[in-house]
Amino acid sequence: MLEVIRADITTLTVDAIVNAANSSLLGGGGVDGAIHRAAGPDLLHECRLLGGCKTGDAKLTKAYRLPTRFIVHTVGPVWRGGGHGEADVLASCYRRSLDVAADAGARSIAFPCISTGIYGYPLEAAADIAITTLTAHARFADFERVICCCFSEADVRVYTERIAAIGSR
Ligand code: AR6
Repeated sequence: MLEVIRADITTLTVDAIVNAANSSLLGGGGVDGAIHRAAGPDLLHECRLLGGCKTGDAKLTKAYRLPTRFIVHTVGPVWRGGGHGEADVLASCYRRSLDVAADAGARSIAFPCISTGIYGYPLEAAADIAITTLTAHARFADFERVICCCFSEADVRVYTERIAAIGSR
């Protein structure tokens, strides 16, 4: 089962949290900025060694001052109207993040709403991709908890509605 909660993802005690990063992996605004601030400067040092990350891929680091064990850094697509492969890239972010976290032994993971902030992906469409991709992926079964961590109550409502709509199809 997919869980939907409202929280600051940096406060969660799970095995892994996912960061909506950019391809440099050297920090930014939004959830990326919040994670780097809360984890402390050692996170940036480790990220510098990773050589960036391709859009749709994911890379693992330690979590330093955060209560989680791992951070999975993934790079979502910038929304350019929907006709530039954005949906496939976003789905790839969710699959690759599960793969990387499962390979590290994580049994619980929390995702932010990747690409729906600064990168402009429409929330309902992004929620549908998150829900269908996560639950269909083989590695989903490796986890005891998979959490969609929304930053606002409005986002929680959209996710809850979309899970109900998809479940009753
Ligand atoms: N906890 C959980 N969710 C959060 C938090 C938080 N502390 N802070 C923001 N969000 P965004 P993107 C939500 O913009 O669209 C960065 O500069 C936010 O409300 O963080 O993938 C990167 O370096 C939204 O629902 O990520 C990239 O350059 C979601 O996280 C770029 O932004 C994603 O919003 C990536 O843009």
